Amino acid sequence: MTDTVDLDLCLAPLRGVTGCAFRTVFCRHFSGLSRAVAPFIPTVMGARVKPALLAELRPDRNRALPLIPQLIGKDPADLALMIKALRDLGYGRVDLNAGCPWPMVARKGRGAGLLADVDTLRRMLDSGCAAMPEGFSIKVRLGLKTPDLLAQRMEVLNDYPLCEVAIHPRTAQQMYEGHVDLQAFSDGLARCRHPVVYNGDIRTAADGAFLRARYPAVRRWMIGRGLLADPYLAERLRGSAAPRDLFRVKAFLDDLLAAACEESHGEKQVLGRLKELWGYLAPSLCRDGTLLKRIRFCHLLDEYRRTVDDVFRRQAAWVESRDGLVL
Ligand SMILES: Cc1cc2nc3c(=O)[nH]c(=O)nc-3n(C[C@H](O)[C@H](O)[C@H](O)COP(=O)(O)O)c2cc1C
Repeated sequence: MTDTVDLDLCLAPLRGVTGCAFRTVFCRHFSGLSRAVAPFIPTVMGARVKPALLAELRPDRNRALPLIPQLIGKDPADLALMIKALRDLGYGRVDLNAGCPWPMVARKGRGAGLLADVDTLRRMLDSGCAAMPEGFSIKVRLGLKTPDLLAQRMEVLNDYPLCEVAIHPRTAQQMYEGHVDLQAFSDGLARCRHPVVYNGDIRTAADGAFLRARYPAVRRWMIGRGLLADPYLAERLRGSAAPRDLFRVKAFLDDLLAAACEESHGEKQVLGRLKELWGYLAPSLCRDGTLLKRIRFCHLLDEYRRTVDDVFRRQAAWVESRDGLVL
């Protein structure tokens, strides 16, 4: 691999997909990532954090990549308690989720809902920065229904010693659909005194080059669905132009299946996780949707294994993405 582009490339948190098993197995087969933010964990009430809640974050299970735990919640005392538990595990970085768009989360003032309530946002930032003074960051969206809220909230974020602000330039109402709003990202970037991470719809090396040229001040990039659709994306963003080796993709999937079975919570759950990943990957192997249908049709692990073996026996070539920012 020609590693020509020097990048800080972070794996985005995708709950249900980029857990401990995925991160570990991914790094066994592919390279290019600098670090990862773990999918969110809710803050909990009480005097003590149950170890099971933090099992995915245990350092002995997370040696493959530098990992930043992420918390979601709206109670400052609960946040401080969770951060203390994470410090006890050895973490010096924690991220606060202020971007989750799901209505049942945001309506209750968590995730993207935090952006709507300045007082709670401030209390959470007070608590997070006090509990993790040098390593507290936040991941945000542009707003709830309109893209102008973040620009106002940047004044609040600028009052705190955050170590970075990751911006996904969509509103919560957009969920993960529609265009990212690069103009609103530019506004947020211009107002932010902290290091900014760009996150959203990076799917090809051309997207990376386009964004780097447009935002020379941005040094940190976060990729999620693009990497699931193309496990070579991180390597390609760094300059690799080597043809994709489908055997490596197959070996990765086999290994991921084995790891998921090992930590497993039953056949149905393992299949569910793999199907979620295939939802992103399948269009890179077959444009017309029939492959994804075949995978989704598998109800037993043996059926799934046979289907995947068959897919890669027949698969001739990679299908280049048509969904990038730069077409
Ligand atoms: C299934 C799914 C789960 C997600 N889980 C989280 C999460 O736990 N924490 C978070 O901050 N963002 C979460 N996100 C948002 C992603 O981290 C990221 O911001 C979003 O996918 C846009 O980046 P991308 O276009 O590179 O995928 C999730 C997104 C999806 C689709």
